[in-house]
Amino acid sequence: MKPAIICFTRCLLFTSALGFSINSSADSEHEIKDPIKHGEEAHQNHCYKCHSDDVYTRENRFVKSIDALSKQVVRCKEGSNIPWFDEDADAVVQFLNNKYYRF
Ligand code: HEC
Repeated sequence: MKPAIICFTRCLLFTSALGFSINSSADSEHEIKDPIKHGEEAHQNHCYKCHSDDVYTRENRFVKSIDALSKQVVRCKEGSNIPWFDEDADAVVQFLNNKYYRF
């Protein structure tokens, strides 16, 4: 399922880059060069609707591993219809891990 989605996205971007020069910028945007920075921006734009950064630093936080963090980001993302690619969610995981969790 996952690789198929990635392939589909890549093919789509490739095809549209051929057809419309305007899409070549979308293509390079999708290639995330600095995941931590990208994650920070994506997080800023979408993740403050229900909770602040406090949930990541509270004493009884329940995320205890990088795997759990990754799952929780996906859960929160899907619970609120945030239109991210897997790469965006991964970048947010890296950002949160780098800034708060440090697994
Ligand atoms: C629809 C509301 C909602 C949105 C939007 C949302 N979250 Fe959450 N999130 C929650 C709830 C509810 C909890 C559990 C809070 C609690 O237990 O007090 C939570 C908890 C978390 C935790 C676990 C904190 C811990 O205890 O270690 C992480 C990590 C997290 N959210 C990340 C995100 C990220 C990243 C985004 C943006 C994609 C996001 N959330 C957006 C509702 C949301």
